[in-house]
Amino acid sequence: MNKIIYLDAAATYQKPEPVINAMNDFLLNHYANAGRGVCGRVEYVDDMVERTRARVAAFMNARANQIVFVSGTTMAMNMVADMIPMRATTRVLVSDLDHHSARLPFVRRANERAGQVMVCPLDENYNLDMENIPAADVFVITAMSNVMGMPQDVAKIIRIAKEKNPNVITVVDAAQFVVHEKIDVRAWGADFVCWSAHKIGADTGVGILYIKSPDDFSPTFIGGGMARRVESDGHIVFADATERFEAGTLPLTQIAGIIPAIDNLEKNRPNLGLIKYMYDELSKINKVKILTKRDAAVLTFVVDGMHSLDCGAYLGVRGFCVRVGMMCASWIIRRLDIDGAVRVSVGAYNSQADAEVFIKAIKEVVK
Ligand SMILES: Cc1ncc(COP(=O)(O)O)c(C=O)c1O
Repeated sequence: MNKIIYLDAAATYQKPEPVINAMNDFLLNHYANAGRGVCGRVEYVDDMVERTRARVAAFMNARANQIVFVSGTTMAMNMVADMIPMRATTRVLVSDLDHHSARLPFVRRANERAGQVMVCPLDENYNLDMENIPAADVFVITAMSNVMGMPQDVAKIIRIAKEKNPNVITVVDAAQFVVHEKIDVRAWGADFVCWSAHKIGADTGVGILYIKSPDDFSPTFIGGGMARRVESDGHIVFADATERFEAGTLPLTQIAGIIPAIDNLEKNRPNLGLIKYMYDELSKINKVKILTKRDAAVLTFVVDGMHSLDCGAYLGVRGFCVRVGMMCASWIIRRLDIDGAVRVSVGAYNSQADAEVFIKAIKEVVK
C-alpha cells in the first residue's frame, strides 16, 4: 500500500501535535467533570473551559458570554432553527451554497408550517448575488461553500439584508470560512455564527455557536447545569448565558484541544498556493473540468466520462484521500448540472510534494 496522501482537510483537519498533547495531558493529569464539585481538579477543568471560551471569543471578536460549546455546526444549526421564533409567514432565506446541515433544520421547520423557505440568487460566479438579496426574516448565510471554497463578504451581505429588513435574524455557517479567513462577529453584525472545531485541527465532537444576544433565546436542550431554579409549579428559570445553552456534560477532552488548534491555525494557515499549483496543472488536462476558481480554498472538478465515485476509488487505491460525490451540498451540485464531483483540499501539513504526486496520480487515472 502506498503512503497515504491526505488531501481532505475540508472534511476534517489532521491534528497538530500540540492538540494531541493537550488532550493527552488533560486525560492523563487533569481529568474530572466541570462545574460539579469543589476539588482542585474541578477548579482546573472549570478554568480550562473558561480560558478556552475566552480564547474563542477573542478569535471571533466576541464576548465570552456569547460563546456556547456545542458538538459542531450541525448541532448549532439545529439549535438555532429551534430557538428562533418562527410562524407560517416567516421568510427564511437560504442559498444553494448551503451544506445540508445549514439548510435542512430550517426546511424541516418550514415543512411543519413554521416558515417559508426562499432561495437567495447566486451571481454568475456562484457567489451570493448582492444586487438581488430579497427581504427576509431569517437569513442563513454560508460564509464559504464546501464545494466552491470562496469566502463571501458576510459583513456586506448582512448590511444589505438589514437594509431590506432591519429585524432580519442572520445565521452564519462559518464551518469552512473559519479555516481560511478571520471571523469578526462585530464587524459582521450577525446574530448567530457557528463552526466545527475539527475543521481547524481540534477533535470531533465540539464546535462553537456564537449568539449575539444569548439572554433573548430559550435553550433547546434541558438538563443539568442550565437551570437557575425549578419552581414548585414546574416553571424552569434558566441560568444566564452561557450555561443555559450547555445542558449536560461538555466534551471536555475535545475542548482541551481548542486553544492549541487556534494557536496553530493562526500561526500556520493552509497554503492555498498548493491549490493554485494543482489548479494550473489540472487545467492542462483535457478530460478534467474544474468547477472552482483558481483563488478558491478548495479545488473541485469532474473528469469527463468518469463518475466522481470511480475517480475517488482510483485515487483511493493509490493512497490519496479526497472527497467525492455530493458532499452534503446537493443544491450547488445540481446547479452545476452534475451528479457529484471530486474535491481536493489542503491543511498546513500538506506540502508541494503532496500536490506534485497528486497531479501525477490524476494523470494516470484519467488516461
Ligand atoms: C460548509 C459546511 N457547513 C456545515 C458542515 C457540517 O459540519 P459538522 O459535520 O462538523 O457538523 C460542514 C462540514 O463539512 C461544512 O463544510
